[in-house]
Amino acid sequence: MLTELLSTADVFVATFSRPLKNCRWTKAVVKGERISGLWRLRIECFTERQAFTEPASEPVADLDRALAHLLNESLRQILVQTPSQDHHILRSFKSSGVQVTVKQLPPTRSAWEQLASDRTKQRALTPEHDADFLYRMDLATEDGRIKSSMADKFRQVNHMLQRAASSEQRAASSEQRTASSEFVVVDAGCGKAYLSLSLVYVMERMGRKVRLIGIDSNPKVIEHCRQVAQEMGFAGAEFHVGGISEVGKGLALPHCDMLIALHACNTATDDALELGLVLEADVMLVAPCCHHEVQRQMRKERVPEWARPLLDDGITKERLGDLLTDTMRRDILRWKGYDAHLEEFISLEHTQKNVLLKAEKKPIDDATAHWRASVEAMIEAWGVQCALWQRLS
Ligand SMILES: C[S@@+](CC[C@H](N)C(=O)[O-])C[C@H]1O[C@@H](n2cnc3c(N)ncnc32)[C@H](O)[C@@H]1O
Repeated sequence: MLTELLSTADVFVATFSRPLKNCRWTKAVVKGERISGLWRLRIECFTERQAFTEPASEPVADLDRALAHLLNESLRQILVQTPSQDHHILRSFKSSGVQVTVKQLPPTRSAWEQLASDRTKQRALTPEHDADFLYRMDLATEDGRIKSSMADKFRQVNHMLQRAASSEQRAASSEQRTASSEFVVVDAGCGKAYLSLSLVYVMERMGRKVRLIGIDSNPKVIEHCRQVAQEMGFAGAEFHVGGISEVGKGLALPHCDMLIALHACNTATDDALELGLVLEADVMLVAPCCHHEVQRQMRKERVPEWARPLLDDGITKERLGDLLTDTMRRDILRWKGYDAHLEEFISLEHTQKNVLLKAEKKPIDDATAHWRASVEAMIEAWGVQCALWQRLS
């Protein structure tokens, strides 16, 4: 019934009401959105006193099948709202069977953007709604308060989730992917995987299937990640102990939608970027950490005379080293066919390491070769090379 009724709609809200006495629910509300041909559903059922949100399921094609458990309940009225019209479904339950009448009326719901803001809310973590997850992640206390020592980390995670979510949407609407294909994320130097496990959590809540591969050389953090993934039932999350390059290059993935590397120390960021290139990641979100490698190479006698004052004080030398490293990394990605930019992902008061290198894959064309020349010019001028350049040369 609903599958056919909504065959031309892309979004709907269905409110089931008017229960018979034997019905377990007083009301149920289903919000549906069709992406790449499949419906993602959010289902909430109500009793007199409580509301229950069903865990997100796989995207579905057949609404009647996916909602059979609600359609079988003795709720006599279903108001199905879409942007173009409302469908009023009335059902009477008789011993001979169920009689159904359907009426089409002009649309009554105008707030369709509300669904989009619901999605935004679902993408953010809040202590009110996600206390259990935040506790398991060590971000909150057992009673659901964000730990003061983790407040900045919590903020960073929510900021990055917004960035990651917009990239995920881009991947979901990509022609090569169907909504049912899993979203593959690699977290290089994952540590406790604050961002990537949060991403799995919010995406699964939204009905997306996620495969996460976390890599870190520290066995203790990997043990923690495995435990959280197991407790949360994230079947698609796997964690490996080892170096980013060693583990990463042994991965056999169908595709890589997103490579994340947050504050991977020094040249581990270059390892992560190199891995992103090897895996042909659609999107890379990389927040660099310390930049010792390039600073180590900087010598007054190797730069032009006019630039030497920049190397006089430790702080200017350090910041110049950071800028050179990240600019070279960005332009190498541009040379390799990525639309790459450096930006701040959160204000400085929450972390000194607030730079994000964001890169999205696009077709390689003649123009990309220009960026190789740009990196070569920087190397020539400053007498330094970032590790990513050395790996690719
Ligand atoms: C500063 S922590 C950041 C952790 C996490 N990404 C976050 O943002 O919370 C850096 C992590 O990178 C890991 N790491 C550093 N170099 C690595 C390498 N070459 N291969 C794998 N892991 C590495 C460290 O063990 C550490 O857990």
